[in-house]
Amino acid sequence: MPAKAHDTAADIEKLRDEIRRHEHLYYVLDAPEIPDAEFDRLMQQLKKLEAAHAELVTPDSPTQRVGGKPREGFLKVEHSRPMLSLDNAYNEQELRDWERRVRELAGTDKIDYVCEFKLDGMSMALTYRGGKLEKGVTRGDGSVGEDVTSNVRTMRSVPLSIAASVLKKAEVPQDFEARGEVIIPAKDFERMNEDRERQNLSRFANPRNAAAGTIRTLEPSIVAQRRLDFYAYFLLVGGRYYPEKHSDALAALKAMGFKVNPNHTLAHNVDELLAFIARSEQMRDKLPYEIDGIVIKVNSTRLQERLGFTGKAPRWAIAYKYAARSGVTQVEDIKVQVGRTGKLTPVAWLKPVPIGGTTVSRATLHNEDEIERLGVKIGDWVMVERGGDVIPKVVKVMEDQPRGHKKFHFPERCPECDGHVVRAEGEADHRCVNANCPAKLRESILYFAARSVMNIEGMGESLVNQLCDRGLVKDIADIYELTEEKLLTLERIGKKSAQNLLNEIEQSRKQPLERVIYGLGIRFVGERTAEFLAEHFGSMNALMNASVEELQEVNEVGPRIAESIHEFFAEPANRKLVERLRQYLNFTGKKKERGTALAGKTFVLTGTLPNYSRDAAKQMIEDAGGKVVGSISKKTDYVVAGADPGSKLDKAKELGVAVIGEEEMLKLVSPT
Ligand code: IVH
Repeated sequence: MPAKAHDTAADIEKLRDEIRRHEHLYYVLDAPEIPDAEFDRLMQQLKKLEAAHAELVTPDSPTQRVGGKPREGFLKVEHSRPMLSLDNAYNEQELRDWERRVRELAGTDKIDYVCEFKLDGMSMALTYRGGKLEKGVTRGDGSVGEDVTSNVRTMRSVPLSIAASVLKKAEVPQDFEARGEVIIPAKDFERMNEDRERQNLSRFANPRNAAAGTIRTLEPSIVAQRRLDFYAYFLLVGGRYYPEKHSDALAALKAMGFKVNPNHTLAHNVDELLAFIARSEQMRDKLPYEIDGIVIKVNSTRLQERLGFTGKAPRWAIAYKYAARSGVTQVEDIKVQVGRTGKLTPVAWLKPVPIGGTTVSRATLHNEDEIERLGVKIGDWVMVERGGDVIPKVVKVMEDQPRGHKKFHFPERCPECDGHVVRAEGEADHRCVNANCPAKLRESILYFAARSVMNIEGMGESLVNQLCDRGLVKDIADIYELTEEKLLTLERIGKKSAQNLLNEIEQSRKQPLERVIYGLGIRFVGERTAEFLAEHFGSMNALMNASVEELQEVNEVGPRIAESIHEFFAEPANRKLVERLRQYLNFTGKKKERGTALAGKTFVLTGTLPNYSRDAAKQMIEDAGGKVVGSISKKTDYVVAGADPGSKLDKAKELGVAVIGEEEMLKLVSPT
């Protein structure tokens, strides 16, 4: 039936184009046209079609972002042209000197420059052949990098293929190279570090390390879960920069569907360069990613070639680096702060010091072990670092300065309520064990009202202090029982601000179930876990009554998190609080629909499947109502085995469990 086969192929390709268009809208332009659920539906539809027509699956299909993984580490690849680094200018004078040298060497004063952000990530070269992504290679030592293609493919802002018509319009041949920066947005960086802390791993020091660490993971499905982004800033054809102007290269890359940072501009002289630097410095704190300076490039690629290189850096470009955001100051005292969970955080009280535009007078010391590691004493001079909107931290003691002598001892009693302080075995933190500690209440209210949680604007520190001190708010449910009368008894609150606050509180009642779950402040339940819980259970009732085992069926919920959630809801006081919240807040959400084809069936996955990663296969089985577990027992219904299956296959045979391949698994998940 060649006619039918052709139709299916055309249908599949049409669907892929539609999905690619939405990927581009969402991940590159940040302007989605359809809700996520609709996008998922399209993707599901494509997966089904491809499952039924395995012969039509192509590597550039949007379903193939998470595919095979590199087996023995990454292969080394030589770059078409070395990936160089940049010389730095640290102040206006150094920039002026560089710019003057460029003019002298060029023999003209009429030079155009392109100013770009210096994104704090890792550089990457993507080669395309016939319009399709062929390779993603790290910078490495500049001449030879590592082939991390399987991980690069998972990044949705990287196009897997570019239509011939688009390339033609952009006047770019089918074989080309795009170079740029892989970054991790600040929010995801924070989330990643939270996850790492939960797993008792050390935090990544900065987003660049996090991006580099992620891109070098040998498990593409892990990379796929992180929101790595690729911003293109070079276009090469035949190993040479293309076309004649760098500004045109940026425009072409954008037209080809790459993400190009919009914050770039043409400058015609050094004053315009300095003006861009000043503007960018003001934007810096508001950006959703880190930048550590500005890159300035000569616009003409011909002039670039003429200017050439010195050592490892081009003469035609320079990085203007922002002053490091650190400062040195003296520790005047060390005090502890009590958090929402009763955690005691030691904080260094500093002689105020200006760092990157703000005055810093406090810096966190995290916990007792960190104080020990730093060897910090009251009176010491220390280096303090401030990154983006993160809390400043003490990074080291200045050994060459006069040293302090007063050692800090963790208090045995809570500074807020005089309650007992304990440091449990195996834990890094000290905690106040008094359930009624006022600090816990204050912090939990502030947390609940925070922008990323219930978003009650105006519920800041001073207001919450008053509300708690006067006994107007004894738990989060009391927020919804505040009235104008009650609010007017507070200081500095007039009719208007009382009404504004009540409006804000009213608005917060519309927040979806996941935010409500997040707002309860259950230990280990962050934004992402709350989302998974809401999706899985669909209601607060189902969540409240879930067993530890049921909780563990939720994405990314392991025994520790499940235990913590279960414990929370087992506590009568918490249940009572949640019951009171019921009348005010959204207790139902959208449960992710699951099929029933595999209800009651248990699967074990082993080996590498030809087309699907383990995570993707797991998701498919679960979406069809099945369950995926780690080890084989007599109760296992199917073992899905791919290449190099290992000992699980022997075990399956021994127990007489059915062993199937990817194809049969696909038939089971979508029997139609
Ligand atoms: S151009 C030959 N442009 O900064 C020119 N680099 O210190 C080489 N970077 O290795 C790079 N944003 O990782 C260029 N807009 C940008 C950049 C950028 C960040 C990084 C890149 C490079 C390093 C050089």
